[in-house]
Formats: sequence, C-alpha cells, structure tokens
Amino acid sequence: MKIGILSSGGDCPGINATIRGVGKTALMHYGMEVVGIHNGFSGILSDNPEDVEPLTERQLSGILNLGGTILGTSREKNFRDLIKSEREEPDSSVIRERYQALGLDCLACIGGNGTQKTTYLLSTLGLNVIGIPKTIDNDVWGTDFTFGFDTAVNIATEAIDRLHTTAGSHRRVMVVEVMGHRAGWLALYAGMAGGADVILLPELGFDINRVAEVLLEREQVGKPYSIVVVAEGLKTPAGGKRPSDYIARKIQELTRIETRETVLGYIQRGGSPSPFDRNLATRLGGHATELIAAGKFGRMVCVKGEEVDSIPLSEVAGRLKLVTPGHDLIVQGLRMGISFGH
Ligand code: F6P
Repeated sequence: MKIGILSSGGDCPGINATIRGVGKTALMHYGMEVVGIHNGFSGILSDNPEDVEPLTERQLSGILNLGGTILGTSREKNFRDLIKSEREEPDSSVIRERYQALGLDCLACIGGNGTQKTTYLLSTLGLNVIGIPKTIDNDVWGTDFTFGFDTAVNIATEAIDRLHTTAGSHRRVMVVEVMGHRAGWLALYAGMAGGADVILLPELGFDINRVAEVLLEREQVGKPYSIVVVAEGLKTPAGGKRPSDYIARKIQELTRIETRETVLGYIQRGGSPSPFDRNLATRLGGHATELIAAGKFGRMVCVKGEEVDSIPLSEVAGRLKLVTPGHDLIVQGLRMGISFGH
C-alpha cells in the first residue's frame, strides 16, 4: 500500500511524533510506502512536485521531540471552499484525480475539528481517509484527549505559577488569558493546576459583579492578591477577541485593586511535546496505520480512558467537545472555594 500523511490547521506539539508513529509503523511493520504532503490539504492540489515527499525511516528519525510539523500546515477552509461548486456541492473530480495521480491507497489527516470535517468530506467523495485528532484546545468530539493539550496545559500552568509571585509582591490581581478557541479546557486544566482563584470559561459565562465580590472578599480575609484565568473564547459585553481586556478593566474599576493582564498567546503551541503527548501521538499514529492496513477507512482514531480506539468520521464532523458544568474539576474546585464567575 502507499499512504499519504498531512497535517492541517493550527500546529501543536506532538504532530511530528504522530508522523513518526504513522510512518515508521507503515514502513517497518507493514512494508508500506509513505509520502508526506506539505502544507496541509492545499499540498494535494498543488502543482509543485516538492509538495509531495517520499518519507523514509531515516527522515522519520529524530523528530519525536520536535515541536511544530516537518510537513508544514495551513488552514483547511480554503481547500473546503475550493472543492465545492457554487451550489455548495462538493466537486470530487479535482481532488480524486490528484489522489489517484499520487497513487495513494489512503490519506492520513492530522488535525483539529476543521480538519476532521474536511477529512469526512473527502470520505464522502469516495477517498480512503483516516483522521488523527490534534489540538491544544482538546475540543475534538469523540476523543477524551488530543495530543498538544497536555503540553499547552504545562506551559500555561508554569506561566500562572510565575504570575503568583509577582502578583503577591505587588498585591495585584493578575488576569491571564489562555487559548482554547471556543472551549474552556485549557483554562480549566491550567487554571486548576496553577491554583487560580477565579476561572472564567466560555461554557459557563460570568457575572462581573460576582467576580469583583470574590476578589474583595479575598482581600478582606488577608489575601491581597489574586489570579484570574480567562479562556480566550469567553464572550464579554465588549465583544472582540480579547476578553481579558474587558475583565481586567472591569475588575480594577469595581474593586480598585491594581490589575494587570497577560495574554499567553502562541507560546502555548510552540516547542517540544510533553512525554504524555509524545506517547499519545505515538499510539494514535500506530493505531491509524493499523486501521489502514485492515482497510478500515473513514474513521478517526481516538482515546477512551486507557484505550486507543476509533470512531466513524461521520460522528465527529461538525461537532465540538465542550466543558460541561458537572466536570469533576469544576465540582471539586467549587467545593474548595474557587470561583467560576457566578
Ligand atoms: O486551535 C488552536 C488555536 O491555537 C486556538 O487555541 C486559537 O484560537 C487558534 O488556534 C489561533 O489560530 P491561528 O493560528 O489561526 O491564529
């Protein structure tokens, strides 16, 4: 068999570990031929022969701990638009021709929600595809965890730890905004691990007066500084992209406590994957190749508890995994006096 691998959407730590997992298993265990496709889905349609590169065992060595993606990536929306006609019907001919010209028996697509949706679209066009979930947001439906998330939680937690000491010295409120797109997973996990006092998630909303009260109550009992973690997807009356701007401004206005804002941004996505993410990526990659060898296409590999499994892409496409109010970290946090904004 000849298989193609691509990475699409925002990068995250662990993609190279996955490429290695898929590729080495394919080459060494199943004797398959492997090609890497550059720059996401657009690499398939590209006329540039350098966008498709045969991958050898040698090229897959030494990349386990490397951040980013050796194949490059791009947002897949343009590709989706391209293969749809004006009537919004997918035009299968171009992509099918290209897939056949490359002589592929299957395409393994590493990506987040958008990528899984596009991968599903390709499966409806009759192409053999497998989805592999990745994102620091952990919001892909059907899998307990995505690789990239654990690394991002570690980075954000370390940042929150560091903010504690400077907040304490100055008796300030530190508002720290973390990524996560529309989901609050990163804010919840890093906020709890970093000992935040207030954690604001898009899924739960917030009451700014209650947040101010919580911070003043802390001051009154001799805790003159506080850490407020805000998920970037939180909606505020100010609209726009930076909810921490609004939250920090209102906190200072309502409490009169000096307040500072930190936006962690892309450092949460960069650098080497954590050991947990390396192992998760390796397992998902290997399992993806196992599915390909068995001819089980149109599925996304996933992790459920301790097990690696797979589910149909049709169940994943277009769905988002969000934090639920009953999540154990929220329940335990509330019991310990941590505020979730209400
Ligand atoms: O999906 C990963 C992510 O980093 C989100 O947390 C963030 O909202 C988004 O990507 C940023 O996208 P871009 O890389 O296009 O700026």
